[in-house]
Amino acid sequence: MNVISVKNLSKTYEYYKKQSGLWNSVKSLFHREKLFTEAVKNISLEIAEGELVGFLGPNGAGKTTTLKMLSGILYPTSGEATVLGYIPAKRQSAFQKQFALVMGQKNQLWWDLPAMESFLLNKAIYEIPDEQFKNTLAELTELLDIKDILDIQVRKLSLGQRMKCELTAALLHSPKILFLDEPTIGLDVVSQNNIREFLKRYNREKKITIILTSHYMDDVAALCERVVIINFGELIYDGGLRALLDEHVDHKILEVTFTEDQDQNGFAKYGSIKEFTARHVVLAVKKDEAKKVAAEILTTMPVDDILINEVNIDDVIRHIFSAHRKK
Ligand SMILES: Nc1ncnc2c1ncn2[C@@H]1O[C@H](COP(=O)(O)OP(=O)(O)OP(=O)(O)O)[C@@H](O)[C@H]1O
Ligand SMILES: [Mg+2]
Repeated sequence: MNVISVKNLSKTYEYYKKQSGLWNSVKSLFHREKLFTEAVKNISLEIAEGELVGFLGPNGAGKTTTLKMLSGILYPTSGEATVLGYIPAKRQSAFQKQFALVMGQKNQLWWDLPAMESFLLNKAIYEIPDEQFKNTLAELTELLDIKDILDIQVRKLSLGQRMKCELTAALLHSPKILFLDEPTIGLDVVSQNNIREFLKRYNREKKITIILTSHYMDDVAALCERVVIINFGELIYDGGLRALLDEHVDHKILEVTFTEDQDQNGFAKYGSIKEFTARHVVLAVKKDEAKKVAAEILTTMPVDDILINEVNIDDVIRHIFSAHRKK
């Protein structure tokens, strides 16, 4: 069953040019120049219940704008979105009770109060029955390991603790859909991992549908089988992460260290040379030839160490973005 259905969704922001200087400000009282940004262009997609989909795209691609339209914060300029059968922009309360939006860059908890106060406020807003609130809170705080910090002022929490509290606040009403806009931004590696593990588990156990945006490929690689790539407001890929990599990656990276100095010319026949110093070479070798080349180097050269690595996902995605730009 599809819980999200998007057809030809577009958003153009209209705003007025701001000019510096007093004279320009006075002038702009009489004549203001209107500007337009096409943030999202004609995006269509379907998302089934329980899916965990990653939105990827460089800064300004239109990811946040799309999430804001799906959660009813912004009206689309054209096209339509239905989420759980509702039109988000109508902001019906029955719809509001079934989704949550968490933005890593925005604090949604009361800054000067302990997180518990925000949780209680959400209990009232979402009309969560006492028993359900108690159970859900116990479950979430256990899973996220934050039982001990609920009574500390939010402003005093670490970034990672705060994000865990944000997630708890968002999930207390047991939404069916969770929109996450850069949930791990600024977190250290350990906290990023904790959040990822939690999301993976929560998605699996509750069948909650999650759309996640992130600039960290590790998030996407760890969590999302399906990725949607947006660039300049356009959808340029929608499919499996594995398939995307298979399609765009035709080589592996071979890294070799030697016990004696080598001549760079000896390596050109194996593939393209990425890095070279007398005792160290990094080669891009065709995927299906990597093993053969490694074996040949091992038997014919004074090898100290040899590694065959997969291409870095970040590089692949960057390559896809730049290819799209050139079109
Ligand atoms: N309120 C606004 N008024 C005018 N333009 C806006 C507004 N909000 C966003 N934009 C523009 O719309 C485009 C898409 O922005 P959006 O925030 O959706 O990108 P994003 O993919 O979330 O980027 P990031 O990865 O940096 O968060 C950008 O060019 C941005 O400058
Ligand atoms: Mg954004």
